[in-house]
Amino acid sequence: SKTKEIVVLPGDGIGPEVTKEAVNILQTVCERHGYKLKTRTFPIGGASIDRYGRPLTDETLKACKESPAILLGAVGGVKWNDQPKDKRPEAALLGLRKELDLFANLRPIKTYDSLIHASPLKEEIITDVDIMIVRELTGGIYFGRPRYIEKTETGERAVDTKAYTTEEIDRIAHIAFETATLRDRRVTSVDKANVLDSSRLWRQTVKESAKQWPEVSLDHMLVDNGAMQLVRNPGQFDVIVTGNMFGDILSDEASMITGSLGMLPSASLGEEYAMYEPIHGSAPDIAGQHIANPLATIASVAMMCRHSLDMPDAAREIELAIKTTLEDGFRTADIYSDPANEYEVSTSEMGSAVVKHLNPNLQ
Ligand code: NAD
Ligand code: IPM
Ligand code: MN
Repeated sequence: SKTKEIVVLPGDGIGPEVTKEAVNILQTVCERHGYKLKTRTFPIGGASIDRYGRPLTDETLKACKESPAILLGAVGGVKWNDQPKDKRPEAALLGLRKELDLFANLRPIKTYDSLIHASPLKEEIITDVDIMIVRELTGGIYFGRPRYIEKTETGERAVDTKAYTTEEIDRIAHIAFETATLRDRRVTSVDKANVLDSSRLWRQTVKESAKQWPEVSLDHMLVDNGAMQLVRNPGQFDVIVTGNMFGDILSDEASMITGSLGMLPSASLGEEYAMYEPIHGSAPDIAGQHIANPLATIASVAMMCRHSLDMPDAAREIELAIKTTLEDGFRTADIYSDPANEYEVSTSEMGSAVVKHLNPNLQ
């Protein structure tokens, strides 16, 4: 059809600021490729609590299930921190991931030459880094049962459970190996198999799955060492596959290789649905100041074009426009360092710069 339809969930804090720019970019590439973009926008997280008393409404969930792709900004904020856990903004995101069975979260970490000096790490360590973190997203300690808080004689006791089944591990391993075949054909599985039963099953199952991918090499790393290796020598990694919480932590760490958490996009994929989200949160400390970096969300839209909207050319055009925008010195505050060669710009100025770089003839 000549229409591309998506659901937009701006959320809280900087979420609406960065999704606005990303939708503009999507609109531009759609027009360029002869499509009309139709967006349906719904509140989620704190914004939905304020309006409907719940972080995720049935109407929002239904719309998501009718859409080939969802763009999410970010949820959460101090205002809602005292809500009970199923009424917190984060419950909406976790609920959506679970309801839509978005078990595979792809988080690419690729350095831009022009941003080498934005990273606190040394140039020779981060040049040409290209890693894909494949994070399991619907299992592990985020969703394991039982979980509760109980009173004890002296205080309270809280329980979370980390659980993985062979099926859950096998399907994420499959995604990691498949991803590796399109890249450098190396998978590093990160776990804590020296301590945790769930990690021993993880390692054993990943090893078993690997037999179906003889062309891909597999190694295993304990997560504490993995966290260290990511800053010591990130160039050693191609695909990293890991569980829900380890993937959460390692990807925020890895973002500093690129210079900022505001740079990393992600795709959360299942068999039927797909959601695209920057890896960062609602950044309450800078919300409303118009300084948030929209590039993570813009790059998430590129992933959407590739994985869901059948517009691989548009994906490459967006990625190239991000690259040339950075080469021309446009910088939001988080990646700005050199007054001689860089211009500090607002969120919307960065968005407009990317739109202009998509259409070099408009410059
Ligand atoms: P955060 O990712 O929101 O922010 C961490 C730091 O990075 C802050 O200093 C922030 O200003 C900065 N930052 C993040 N994104 C940026 C961007 N695009 N441009 C410039 N700087 C950016 O993490 P946090 O502060 O720990 O969490 C804040 C809230 O966000 C919490 O409620 C948390 O639960 C939620 N959260 C939501 C998501 C999501 O919706 N996907 C992800 C992470 C955290
Ligand atoms: C992320 C976030 C979420 C997570 C939170 C907000 C539930 O940190 O998308 O990385 O932990 O998965
Ligand atoms: Mn996170």
